Amino acid sequence: MSFRIQPAAPARPNRCQLFGPGSRPAIFEKMAGSAADVINLDLEDSVAPSDKDSARDNIIQAIGDIDWGNKTLSVRINGLDTPYWYRDVVELLEKASDRLDQIMIPKVGCAADLYAVDALVTAVERAKGRTKPIKFEVIIESAAGIAHVEEIAAGSPRLEAMSLGAADFAASMGMATTGIGGTQENYYMLREGEKHWSDPWHWAQAAIVAACRTHGVLPVDGPFGDFSDDEGYRAQALRSATLGMVGKWAIHPKQVALANEVFTPSEAAVTEAREILAAMEAAKAKGEGATVYKGRLVDIASIKQAEVIVKQSEMIAGH
Ligand code: COA
Ligand code: MG
Repeated sequence: MSFRIQPAAPARPNRCQLFGPGSRPAIFEKMAGSAADVINLDLEDSVAPSDKDSARDNIIQAIGDIDWGNKTLSVRINGLDTPYWYRDVVELLEKASDRLDQIMIPKVGCAADLYAVDALVTAVERAKGRTKPIKFEVIIESAAGIAHVEEIAAGSPRLEAMSLGAADFAASMGMATTGIGGTQENYYMLREGEKHWSDPWHWAQAAIVAACRTHGVLPVDGPFGDFSDDEGYRAQALRSATLGMVGKWAIHPKQVALANEVFTPSEAAVTEAREILAAMEAAKAKGEGATVYKGRLVDIASIKQAEVIVKQSEMIAGH
């Protein structure tokens, strides 16, 4: 372990982030009634340029009017390369009620992007006497974003979560695909004439997890576009969970249950983790640092692995 202790990520569930366009207020109540831990009301790419102003008004009104329960409530603003983003920030911070928890900054490319939004948010918060500081989440969805992922993860004390945005990421990287996440037809290894599909998102995901874990930020998998393919969604989410991500977006309500299922540690996994902890306690009592559990080695590192699962399960149950 480095002398510098790894900071803990925010202790709140983030298994599913459900998105909905700000220009479609008819679905806001349904979003609030869903089982998603995080709600993302969108001002960016699901809203046409002609609807940006009205979407902002819809969202500001809904933040105050709708009962969002104990969900984390987030609004995705427009990117810093657009003429919309400053007005998104100023109007949200001037007019939205204190129920707003977070703003999501898309297409971040460097830590200075967070600095710029932080400066504006801080000024409006002070001017308006807002006492609850707004948190940030960002989307890594460009070549610059992934190249600078670590400085972005360290970019603002407001930052709580970071998502991989597969579609814009693929476009920025020049990837030859129009799929949003999941298996890509042409990304395979050939062995004895048989195709074995590999995961083109793996490197970006692992880089995001490492940057997030270094700086106490929640790593999240982004959208899976084909919402009629439940098994494809589940497979992608299971890979993300295995790599250390804590949740995944839903771009349709039917994906919420899938994300919650994958990112809630199963009863079997929690039982096994507790058994490993008990086995290590017994080993410790005998003065041993390693022992055997179900025919395999467990040692002091296994305690930390098991604690990740137990703590995640307790945090979700206690929320
Ligand atoms: N949140 C909550 N409810 C939603 C919803 C959402 N994002 N999208 C649709 N619904 C509701 C519909 O209103 C409908 O409700 P009803 O049964 O009471 O009539 C039900 O879920 C089924 O909807 P369906 O007809 O299958 O979908 P649709 O054609 O209305 O909408 C999308 C499909 C993909 C356009 C829509 O889900 C959507 O806009 N998703 C979010 C897109 C987004 O925000 N993208 C940005 C991030 S990538
Ligand atoms: Mg995007």
